[in-house]
Amino acid sequence: MPPIDIRPIQTADAASFRACLDAVARERRYLAQVEAPPLERVQQFVADSVANDAAQYVAMRDGQVVGWCDVFAHWAHALQHVGTLGMGIMAAHRGQGLGRRLIERTLQHAQDKGIYRVVLEAREDNHRAIRLYESVGFVREGRAPCAMRFDGVFHTAITMARLQGPARDAQ
Ligand SMILES: CC(C)(COP(=O)(O)OP(=O)(O)OC[C@H]1O[C@@H](n2cnc3c(N)ncnc32)[C@H](O)[C@@H]1OP(=O)(O)O)[C@@H](O)C(=O)NCCC(=O)NCCS
Repeated sequence: MPPIDIRPIQTADAASFRACLDAVARERRYLAQVEAPPLERVQQFVADSVANDAAQYVAMRDGQVVGWCDVFAHWAHALQHVGTLGMGIMAAHRGQGLGRRLIERTLQHAQDKGIYRVVLEAREDNHRAIRLYESVGFVREGRAPCAMRFDGVFHTAITMARLQGPARDAQ
């Protein structure tokens, strides 16, 4: 297998990133969305990420995006140090340590950009994701019953957070 490179997203990745996001979303299990937004919206989103040097990384294999991880900061003044993490990897590439490589790079970039509290929600039965998050220092902050609903079925989510940079010593 050719090596998988982890790097910041580029504008030229938009279509390939959209395809990867779409594939994971269509599993109707892990992400809140069940399909990717239209290409034009994804292109704009990626262009904004690149222009703002946002913490958005992709895993590239053979010129195609096979995974992503991003942390986007909140816009409101008192919440600008808070970012929400999202990630996904194509099914064939899971369980091989790619998630860890992606999340470590993205969290470091987020910290460098002044994001000191990273939050996320994971479905309670998404054991692999929760295991990954805990292994990089996320802690469980709560349990949110009926937080997600897929095809009429409610699912509980675990809310998690990781403090980094100056926030780690400020509790
Ligand atoms: C969640 C996801 C990003 C993790 O990435 P990954 O590359 O598959 O994970 P890794 O190979 O880095 O492994 C992460 C940890 O999970 C563990 N793990 C692997 N398979 C597992 C399983 N079936 N159950 C529980 N833990 C598992 C690994 O051992 C590893 O822990 P360790 O480092 O302590 O050994 C990836 O599986 C994915 O994209 N899933 C679908 C989309 C998704 O869930 N997104 C997140 C929504 S909150």
